[in-house]
Amino acid sequence: MEKLIITGPTPLKGEVNINGAKNAAVAILPATLLINGVCTINNLPNISDVKISCEILEKLGAKITWVTPNEINIDTRNITTTKAPLDLTSKFRASYYIIGAMLGRKGEIEVGMPGGCKLGARPIDQHIKGFELLGANVTVEKGTINGKAKKLVGTNIYMDIVSVGATINIMLAAVLAEGTTIIDNAAKEPHIVDVANFLNTMGADIRGAGTDVIKINGVKELHGNSTYSVVPDQIEAGTFMLAAVATKGDLLIKNCITKHLDSITAKILEIGGNIEDYGDSIRVWCNKRPNKANIKTLPHPGFPTDLQPQMGVVLSLADGTSIINESIWESRFQYTEELNKMGAKITAQGKTAIFEGVPKLYGAPVYSTDLRAGAALIIAGTAAHGTTEVYNLEHIDRGYEHIEEKFRKIGAKIERVTE
Ligand code: EPZ
Repeated sequence: MEKLIITGPTPLKGEVNINGAKNAAVAILPATLLINGVCTINNLPNISDVKISCEILEKLGAKITWVTPNEINIDTRNITTTKAPLDLTSKFRASYYIIGAMLGRKGEIEVGMPGGCKLGARPIDQHIKGFELLGANVTVEKGTINGKAKKLVGTNIYMDIVSVGATINIMLAAVLAEGTTIIDNAAKEPHIVDVANFLNTMGADIRGAGTDVIKINGVKELHGNSTYSVVPDQIEAGTFMLAAVATKGDLLIKNCITKHLDSITAKILEIGGNIEDYGDSIRVWCNKRPNKANIKTLPHPGFPTDLQPQMGVVLSLADGTSIINESIWESRFQYTEELNKMGAKITAQGKTAIFEGVPKLYGAPVYSTDLRAGAALIIAGTAAHGTTEVYNLEHIDRGYEHIEEKFRKIGAKIERVTE
């Protein structure tokens, strides 16, 4: 078993480079199934979710060549099966994108229910509703999803809730459908725009991604022969911004799109941090105890749920009492029990948590309960006095490339050891 040992407190200082976005990469990879050709994808984060996505594609018949740890050539001319391997698809959430992509490419798919972080119920009814409106028949039995479509035909789809996954999945299924599909009440996250940009580069006709109405004019085929670079990871950038504030540090966060970070920037200014925005990099520093603040997580452009635990660390150290309302996931406060082991005073009930700020956190053994909880515990360990041991690293490795190396480079005393 691996664990991280962190000795603090250390103010994080220096420069950090942001990788390509996990949640864009895990959608762009299955999107290559719609191409009858070869393409190159770079700025891929070197994380386990990307590696598993590639393994699934290979099992379906794609040929993948790794040019560097962050760049692949992928040949999807010869897709040999419509059965996705259940053991691999159950390992992460984004395996559901195989459904939209394979319905578009082959009109058929058999895949296991997706896995991923345990954040409460994670239904896929909106995905299925979209596929069925496009003309597919989808059944879910004994943990297996079967989809079949003789022909997909464009239509108007109104999403009952704003869903990142369903928006992307329906977009994938609609790219090669006959006629025009309109997705209304679509999600607007940067990775939705990125997947649309990727598909358009390969010959699709998608308009309006990034707004709440996306129009997809079906095309006959997608060509390869193009190179695409994955958008910088908004959540990784936000993680380091909040790490700078929590540790009273000073970081220049490079290779990001600062417009994607507006909701985080606004909160950091509100709690007394400092920001210099250079468009593709951002400096964040804080030399005092942060002020209290209230946060409600919302779909983009609201404050992202994927930065809620990292913000929770900052507010656990703030001067005064703060409230976080988690409006996306039922169960995303499991990390607060771990922070309380470090001396935080947090009361979480349902979708609300109250943070009575304490002046200091103290090192303790803690367990990462999901990906972003793990990132939050690393920040907490760096800000805390004494030694913190973080367990369950497999969650963190799913979404952050070389996280301990990045923290070490900016001053953290952190090492990974195998027990
Ligand atoms: C994506 O999950 C991200 N994952 C999550 O990031 C992120 O937390 C989430 O979007 C919200 O931003 C990936 O992109 C792989 P949703 P997704 O569909 O697509 C409900 C991380 O840490 N819903 O936008 O699964 C759902 O229960 C991960 O990187 C339905 O009711 O999220 C939730 O309450 C964790 N029916 C809300 O909608 C559906 O069919 C938003 O979910 C679909 C969703």
